[in-house]
Amino acid sequence: MDAFTDIRLKGVSYAFGTHTVLHHIDLHIQPGSVVALLGPSGCGKSTLLRLLVGLAEPAFGEIWFGDRLMAKAGWSLPPEARDIGMVFQDYALWPHMSVAQNVAFPLKMRNVPRAEREQRVMQALERVGLTAFAGRKPAGLSGGQQQRVALARAIVAEPRVLLFDEPLSNLDSALRESLCHEMAQLLRQIGTTAVYVTHDRREAEWLADRIVHLAAGTVESECTVTSSSGEMA
Ligand SMILES: Nc1ncnc2c1ncn2[C@@H]1O[C@H](COP(=O)(O)OP(=O)(O)OP(=O)(O)O)[C@@H](O)[C@H]1O
Ligand SMILES: [Mg+2]
Repeated sequence: MDAFTDIRLKGVSYAFGTHTVLHHIDLHIQPGSVVALLGPSGCGKSTLLRLLVGLAEPAFGEIWFGDRLMAKAGWSLPPEARDIGMVFQDYALWPHMSVAQNVAFPLKMRNVPRAEREQRVMQALERVGLTAFAGRKPAGLSGGQQQRVALARAIVAEPRVLLFDEPLSNLDSALRESLCHEMAQLLRQIGTTAVYVTHDRREAEWLADRIVHLAAGTVESECTVTSSSGEMA
């Protein structure tokens, strides 16, 4: 397997029309680390993720994954060419597909042969504790189970980068906490470089090695999470 990739944002700015929402962001995310982007509503967290995914293009600056340029002003590599796994707040599963078909989708897009696909889908479902649900449709699952399917789908192709946009905010607080700890453990096991957007400080401390505080479209501060601050309450 390739060495883990780092993520670099160099002077990245973004505007909706005349409204600048990200101001000259400089950020370096170490290979294999988990960084939480923390900040109040409207500070630009989702916009920054959209730039990392390739759904938006910077007005200024550059985005690099390892030694590969992802985007610069006027040019952006499309999302499907970036080798990313992503988990959204609203799960975004395909309702007409079974759990196994949902998880298999990224492998199909990469033309992985059927036998290998089936094996890797079951491995990913095992990681999130859902092997017994492989044949079920998403509508027959709880919110927490649906988010586990989305997580399995994000990791199944072993992407270079994992991105999360408030994946737990639709769940009740007890489930949120237990799933957060499971995700933290999973991220440690697979070691993929990850960016996790949240406005919940506790989630950030449980999951991340480093917390980046965004405020009004700028990096306000960065801090390393110590083991004691990430412990269970
Ligand atoms: N499509 C859009 N057109 C114009 N302005 C937008 C658009 N989407 C977002 N914005 C503005 O950009 C700023 C940053 O929005 P963004 O969605 O990145 O915030 P966020 O930190 O993810 O907030 P939340 O925690 O509520 O999800 C906000 O001021 C928002 O109003
Ligand atoms: Mg958002």
